[in-house]
Amino acid sequence: AGQKIYYFDEIDSTNTCAKQLGEQGASHGTLIVAEEQSAGRGRRGRTWESPAGSSIYMSILLRPEIPPVNAPMLTLAMGLSAAEGLQEYTSLDIQIKWPNDIILNRKKLAGILTEMSTEMDCINYVIIGTGINVNMKQLPAELAKKATSLRLETGRIMRRSEIIALIMKKFEKNYQLFMENGDLRRLQEEYNNLLITREKEVRIIESQEEYDAYALGINEKGELLVRESDGTTKAISSGEISVRGI
Ligand code: BTN
Repeated sequence: AGQKIYYFDEIDSTNTCAKQLGEQGASHGTLIVAEEQSAGRGRRGRTWESPAGSSIYMSILLRPEIPPVNAPMLTLAMGLSAAEGLQEYTSLDIQIKWPNDIILNRKKLAGILTEMSTEMDCINYVIIGTGINVNMKQLPAELAKKATSLRLETGRIMRRSEIIALIMKKFEKNYQLFMENGDLRRLQEEYNNLLITREKEVRIIESQEEYDAYALGINEKGELLVRESDGTTKAISSGEISVRGI
C-alpha cells in the first residue's frame, strides 16, 4: 500500500519498463500497469499476446533482502496471490499449475514472468510480471485450446482495476508471510489447496528424462514433492512438469 503506480496506455513490456525503473533506483513496491504491450514476453523466450483493453499486464518491482536463490519463491507467492484474488473476485474455481500458471476449467488464464538483477551475490531488484486474460472475446487459434479468459468462461465483462487491487492486497499479505521466515511455510497449505495436480499422477519432463510420478504438493521452499514409482519422494525445483489431461 502507498507505493508508486505507473500507468501506460501502451508500452513494449511492463517487465522491461520495471527493469529500467529498477536501474534508475525506483523503490520497493513500484507497480507498472499497461493497457497494451507491443512486445509482451512470456517464459522461455515466448511472446505474450497483449492486445489493448482486454487483459491485465502488470509488473511489480521488489527489493527483498533475501538470497538470490530464494527469489523463485516470490513467484509462487505472486501466483498464489493472483489465484486468491481472482477466486475472490469471480467466485470461480481458480487453480494453480506448479510453479505458477493460473488455471480455470483446465485452461491457462494467467502467467507470471519473474526477472532478477543481482550485484555481488545480493538481489538488486526482482521484477514479477503477471499477465491475466480478462475480457478477451477470442484468443488466437493456436492458443484457444490451451488458454482462456474470464469472459470466455463466464460471458461476463470484469473490472480490471478491481482485480488488480485485490491481487495486490493479497500479495501484500502473502509477501509479509513469506518474509517472516524467508520461505513459503506459511503459504504452503493455501497454495497446495489450489494446486491442480495435488495428489494426481503427473508426467515429469526434465531435460534428460521423462517419467510418471504422483504429485504430493509443494514444500516450504516451493519445490514440488513427487512420489516416484519405487516409492521414494523427490523434490523438483526446475524443469518442466506436464500434467496428464491438461
Ligand atoms: C508465461 O509465459 O506464462 C508468463 C507470462 C507473463 C506475461 C506478463 S504480462 C506483464 C508482464 N510483462 C511482460 O512482458 N510479461 C509479463
